Amino acid sequence: MVLFKKIKPMMKKIIFLLCFEIMIAANVFPQNSIIINAGNARDTISRNIYGHFAEHLGNCIYGGFYVGENNTKIANKDGIRLDVIDALKKLKVPVLRWPGGCFADTYHWKDGIGPKDKRPSILNIWWGNVKEDNSFGTNEFLNMCELLGAEPYLSGNVGSGTAQELADWVKYVSHPNETSPMTDLREQNGRIKPWNVKYWGLGNEAWGCGGNMKVEYYANLYRQFATFMSSDNLYRIASGASDADYHWTEILMKEIPHNLLDAVALHHYSVIDWGKKGASTNFSEQEYFTTMQRALLMDELVQKHSAIMDKYDPAKKTALIVDEWGGWYDVEPGTNPAFLFQQNTMRDAMIAGVTLNIFNNHCSRVKMANLAQVINVLQAVILTNEEKMVLTPTYYVMEMYNVHQDALLLPITVTSNDYILGKEKLKAISASASRDKNGIMHISLVNINAKNAQDISITLNGAKFKSIKGRILTSDKIQNYNSFENPGKIKPGAFTAFTINGQQLMVKMPPFSVTVLELK
Ligand code: AHR
Repeated sequence: MVLFKKIKPMMKKIIFLLCFEIMIAANVFPQNSIIINAGNARDTISRNIYGHFAEHLGNCIYGGFYVGENNTKIANKDGIRLDVIDALKKLKVPVLRWPGGCFADTYHWKDGIGPKDKRPSILNIWWGNVKEDNSFGTNEFLNMCELLGAEPYLSGNVGSGTAQELADWVKYVSHPNETSPMTDLREQNGRIKPWNVKYWGLGNEAWGCGGNMKVEYYANLYRQFATFMSSDNLYRIASGASDADYHWTEILMKEIPHNLLDAVALHHYSVIDWGKKGASTNFSEQEYFTTMQRALLMDELVQKHSAIMDKYDPAKKTALIVDEWGGWYDVEPGTNPAFLFQQNTMRDAMIAGVTLNIFNNHCSRVKMANLAQVINVLQAVILTNEEKMVLTPTYYVMEMYNVHQDALLLPITVTSNDYILGKEKLKAISASASRDKNGIMHISLVNINAKNAQDISITLNGAKFKSIKGRILTSDKIQNYNSFENPGKIKPGAFTAFTINGQQLMVKMPPFSVTVLELK
C-alpha cells in the first residue's frame, strides 16, 4: 500500500490501462452492443420461417399426432391427439411439411386414401423396416392441418414415383369438383371441397435418399414433373442442396426455368460428427460448443447459397427454404435407432434461438423453414409417451419467437463478445428484431456462452416506446430437459434484468439463455 502511494500518477495510469486491457481481453467488461435502426425496416419475416416437419418416421405420426379413431385413453378427434393440437396451436404453426423426408420418395399417395381396411401395407424401408399400414394418409393429414390452422406442404415422390402420380395428387387435393376422376375419388372418400394445397416439394434430398441423383439429372426431372402439376395456387419447391453444396444450387438456378421454380430447399443439421453424434443429454461443454458451431454455420450457408441465387434472380423471386434443420444426436438409450428419438435440452433451445435469428435476419431470401421434426423425432417441440406429453425447451423458444411472424424486420448490427473454449471462439450473442402490425417491437436475444452472463447495450434508433417487458428461457444446467416425470422443469419466466436510459437499453443475459423483449 505504502509502495503503491509512492508510484507517480503517470505510472498509475499505465497500470490502470493495462489492467483494463487485460479485463477486456478476458471479457470481464461488456463489449456486447446492438444497434437497431427501427426507421429502416423493409422486409417482412414470413410466418412460414416458423414451420415444422412431420415424417412417417418413428413416433412422429403414429403415437405422436395420430393415435387411431378407436383410442379411448387419449382424447382425440378422428384419431388426432387433441393435447398435441392444443399445444401446437399456441405455437401458431404456420406450415407443416409431410410425409417426408426420405419417406416421401417411397410414398405412393393412393395407398393412403379410401376405406382404411382396404389400404395396403408397406414396409417403411428408410426408418426401421416397420409396417406402414397407411391408416394416416392424405385426407387425415389435410384435415389435421385444418384443425391446426396450418398450411400443408406436401412432399411429392420424384425418386420412385411418376409425373402422372404427382399430377394426380395435385388434382385430388386442389381441383374443383367433377373435373377429373381424381376429384370424383376425393368426393367418394367423403371430402367435397378441395383443400387447395399451395406448397409442393418435388422430391426430397434428390442427392441422397431421394434417388442419389446428379444435380443435372434432377434438374431435368424437376422440369418434367413441374410441367404437369396444375392448379391456380401452386408453389413448387425443388430439392435443394445439402449444407455447403453450392454447385447444387448453381445448377438448379441455372437449369430450371424460374416460372417453374418458386423455391429451393436447403438441408442443414447441427450434428457434431455423423459417425459419433454424441448423447442428447449427457454431453460435455466441448460437445455443446461444437454443436453451436454447426448451428451458427447456418448463417454462412444461407449467405452463400443466397449469393448464388442473387446472380440468377436479383429480384429474389425464388425463395431459399430451409425445410430441414435442427440438432441431431444419438437416440435415447434403449430406443429403436431408426426412430431418431432424442431428448431436448437447453442446448436445443440455443440452436433454435440462434437459427431463428439467422432466418429472421435473412428474411428477404429465406421464406420458409421447417424444424426437424415436430413430435418425437430429432429436435422435437413435443415428446409423447402413451397419454403423457412433454413440451421441450425448443417448444418454448418457438412459442416466444412467434411474435416475429409476419412482422417487419428491423435492421440490426450486433457486436459480440467471444465465447471462448480452448483455442476456439464463437460469438456469444445473437439477436434479431421486428415490429408487428400493431407497432409493437420485439427483440430476441440469445447468449450461447455456457459459463458467463453477458451485459448488452442496445441502442434503439428511431424507436418509440413507453413500456418494456420481457420473457426468458434458462435453467441451471445446460444439460437440463423436461422429462415425462418432471415436464415443467424448464419454462419461460418474466425477464427483468434490464435498465432504460432514453433510447439506450442495458440488458444482462444469464449464461445459455434466450430472451424476447417487447417494447410498446
Ligand atoms: O429428418 C430425418 C431425415 O433427415 C429426413 O428423412 C431426410 O430428408 C434427412 O436426411
